[in-house]
Amino acid sequence: MTEATTPTTSPITTGVALRLHQVRRAFDSLPVITSFSLNVDAGEFLAILGPSGCGKSTLLRLIAGLIQPDSGTVSLSPADTKFQTAYVFQDPHLLPWRTVLENAALPLELMGVDRAPRLAKAHAALADVGLTEAESRYPAQLSGGMRMRVSLARALVTEPRLLLLDEPFAALDEITRFRLDVSLRSLWLERGMTVIFVTHSITEAAFLADRAIVLTGKGGIVKLDRRLNLPRVRNNDLRVNPQLALETQALLTAMEEES
Ligand SMILES: Nc1ncnc2c1ncn2[C@@H]1O[C@H](COP(=O)(O)OP(=O)(O)OP(=O)(O)O)[C@@H](O)[C@H]1O
Ligand SMILES: [Mg+2]
Repeated sequence: MTEATTPTTSPITTGVALRLHQVRRAFDSLPVITSFSLNVDAGEFLAILGPSGCGKSTLLRLIAGLIQPDSGTVSLSPADTKFQTAYVFQDPHLLPWRTVLENAALPLELMGVDRAPRLAKAHAALADVGLTEAESRYPAQLSGGMRMRVSLARALVTEPRLLLLDEPFAALDEITRFRLDVSLRSLWLERGMTVIFVTHSITEAAFLADRAIVLTGKGGIVKLDRRLNLPRVRNNDLRVNPQLALETQALLTAMEEES
């Protein structure tokens, strides 16, 4: 490994900076997020870990503006403009009656972009995730990993400045997951958007991110906030690198104390 460390931001920074200040959110009077504060730099790749039910998806939804905090603030800089945020769910949620190309182009259609330019952009986004060959297929004709690639292309097609991913690769086999980890990391390096990646996999968090936070089981409190000392360019060789094992161990220790 030639490069020992790591600024946490990507070189061509087009990302959004994020500030959550004393955010509180309850559901049916039960507090889920109690007083959550976090700053994320523009272009940072952050992983969020924590036990099931600790509020990770709630946090992503708060950041995306899909739900509002009861108190406290969530601010993006530059301030939220339409379509600067994209959200990738665990389930790809593709429209079965549309081809891969038409699925990937959907956000642009909702933005009112004309057919020819939107299909050209969808074509480019599908090339970025290695799916050019499958453009005219329908979702039912794809493997799970291919469907997730379409979902990723659909998120990337608007060139978001903030990409939120909620356990996107959890249901995939390990080899497919490893490939998608590498693709996502290299897309981030090329594009420089801010990425927030929720995962249950400690090794995936360490492999992908430059910074990882571990939340406590109750109240969504940050128990560990760690900069990961790993190279910027990552491929599968890193998976057997002792430095990855060290970082994984640090995250594992914090997680074990929570479960
Ligand atoms: N819309 C909702 N209505 C009621 N309760 C909710 C709602 N959304 C989340 N919760 C509750 O908030 C808590 C945190 O949920 P959240 O989905 O954020 O956890 P999580 O950390 O993402 O869990 P997992 O790792 O299992 O995905 C849970 O107790 C859940 O039941
Ligand atoms: Mg969740």
